[in-house]
Amino acid sequence: MSEILVINGPNLNMLGRREPEIYGRLTLSDIEKITQSHAAKIGMKCTFFQSNIEGEIVTAIQSVKDKYDGAIINAGAYTHYSYALRDAIALTDKPFVEVHMSNVFGREDFRHKSVLSAVCSGVICGFGENVYTLAADALASIINPDKVEV
Ligand code: DQA
Repeated sequence: MSEILVINGPNLNMLGRREPEIYGRLTLSDIEKITQSHAAKIGMKCTFFQSNIEGEIVTAIQSVKDKYDGAIINAGAYTHYSYALRDAIALTDKPFVEVHMSNVFGREDFRHKSVLSAVCSGVICGFGENVYTLAADALASIINPDKVEV
């Protein structure tokens, strides 16, 4: 069974109460349950992590190098300017999928740029909580390419 880490950055602990018209009404704990049950069906174990603190997120990303087969990351606003997170992803040599619940390209200009995308395998955004299960499928196809059904 593959093991992946799902990393969530600042303010994602407030999901359910945070701008529900943008992010919906599910809590991060609801999303964790949905994603874990989907991941189990495709042979993956996923562990959720959340922090509002940049350095803690760097440490979580570094842990992927030795402990996980890949990761999903919603870095929140750090996406748009944290070179520390970008460098951490690059050093892991493991596949990362960047996700955003909202369609960042339909929002403010500062959200159009991600400093993480270039070191991730791909980006999924705009599908609400479903971005996490979509990203799990995407990661599975990278980690276990032989298992993809044709
Ligand atoms: C977000 C989009 C970011 O611009 C924002 O700062 C977030 C959440 C999303 O999931 O849509 O915190 O990553």
